Amino acid sequence: MPDHGIVPPALDPADELNAPIDIDLRSIIDPIMQQRTQSPIVIPSRAEELSKLVAAGMPRDALPLSEVMAEVQSLTDNYCRRTSHPGFFGFVAPSGLPTDPLSHALVAALNQNVTGYPASPAGATIERTVVKWLAALVGYNEQAGGVLLSGGSMANMTAIGTALIHRFGASLRREGLVATAGARQPKIICSQAVHFSIQRAAGLLGIGTDNVVCVDVDDCFRMRPGKLAQALDTHDCPICVVASAGTTTTGAIDPLDEIAHLCRQQGVWLHVDAAYGGGGLLSTELRPLYAELEKADSVTMDLHKWFYLALDCSVVLYRDPSVAKRMFYDRSDYVQYPFDGPAESHMFFHLSPELSRRFRALPFYVALRHYGADRLGRNVLHNYKCAQYLSRLVQAEAELELVAAPQLSICCFRFAPPSLSERRIDEINRRIRQLIEDEGDFLMSPTDVHARPVLRVCIVNHATRAKHIEGLIKRVLAIGQKLVAADTCL
Ligand SMILES: Cc1ncc(COP(=O)(O)O)c(C=O)c1O
Repeated sequence: MPDHGIVPPALDPADELNAPIDIDLRSIIDPIMQQRTQSPIVIPSRAEELSKLVAAGMPRDALPLSEVMAEVQSLTDNYCRRTSHPGFFGFVAPSGLPTDPLSHALVAALNQNVTGYPASPAGATIERTVVKWLAALVGYNEQAGGVLLSGGSMANMTAIGTALIHRFGASLRREGLVATAGARQPKIICSQAVHFSIQRAAGLLGIGTDNVVCVDVDDCFRMRPGKLAQALDTHDCPICVVASAGTTTTGAIDPLDEIAHLCRQQGVWLHVDAAYGGGGLLSTELRPLYAELEKADSVTMDLHKWFYLALDCSVVLYRDPSVAKRMFYDRSDYVQYPFDGPAESHMFFHLSPELSRRFRALPFYVALRHYGADRLGRNVLHNYKCAQYLSRLVQAEAELELVAAPQLSICCFRFAPPSLSERRIDEINRRIRQLIEDEGDFLMSPTDVHARPVLRVCIVNHATRAKHIEGLIKRVLAIGQKLVAADTCL
């Protein structure tokens, strides 16, 4: 047969150069899983040094996969931060679940684009199912809906976009915020302890970061409802109130019941950012902390935080998803299908800005089916109790000061011997944090409370035990005392 000058494609699966992949996945994954809890958590490095381990220019020639993997592993074996380590207490970092590598490999192998049912019947069915589970966890009824997204920042922005259309109606989409709001100054009202994704959303959505009104918090870092009431009276064009169910720095839960009541009275959209705290709902013992969460119009939860899942997966839930559709509903010639039922015509891109989306629901579905929500809930409670235990140990030490008592699984404290000046205490705590990270057995990310550095411990890890909490306290005291002694010798 003449080939008409058409050269066979280089990546044809039948091409023996490219298929099959002759590497056993387990041989790669198993050692990683075994090393997940080994020290050091991270090896200090310089970017310049690491860039020498990877190809400088775009590779033009093929290389056997085994060589490529060896090259990749030279980097990943040593220079990935081990968030599953029992002493990893930084940020709100997921430890990941043992089912994740399998689930994520499956997601990649299936390569579904879960825009809606027609594009992926299996993907859409599983995503609608997990969204229902999560909506029920919040306390929403059957009418509720939502969509999985990449993270809390995206979920918060999506919810605030929905609050905008709720406030201004359909003309907002056509005419834009300036034309629709006119002389009114739209505001987002939240507490001083809100996550900075709210400011980012305000910037992106054209509301303006200057129009984020941050009301005072109480001694436990919770929004003061009295201050919220004042802010709602002062500002005539509130788009939404954003309450936190688990602030990033201290894990504070705003008084959701009182806030919901004020929002109802004024007809203002209530969004609850439970990106971190949402996982607490898995524990029946902790559930009462979230009283009246179901009164919120929308809720953000990160499954890649206290639900332990590997990155990336969050959910935005709406009590009434039809409001989100007013913001995100679109049709296009190339995404039209013969719709014939509510489930078949359900399009995830009608609820958020994302169109192409991977099979994000699968790892959560697999994990929940395998472990069950109760087992994960017991782990959540265990993390909570570890934070309580840490707080008791801190209070028992004269040289330590409890800065923020745990409300969920975060505890903030400082090395603060009474003989030292405030300035010296700040310096020493910065040094302690860094030196502990350099040692490799524990990691705390830098955080300030009341504009002063603290040692913040966030426990969202199933490997952490009491002995790790005790070990951390010992190192903080030993390093702190050494720094003080070195000072005295000068
Ligand atoms: C309370 C809260 N909201 C939102 C976010 C942002 O989430 P993501 O990093 O998934 O975008 C975080 C991140 O830590 C958070 O703690």
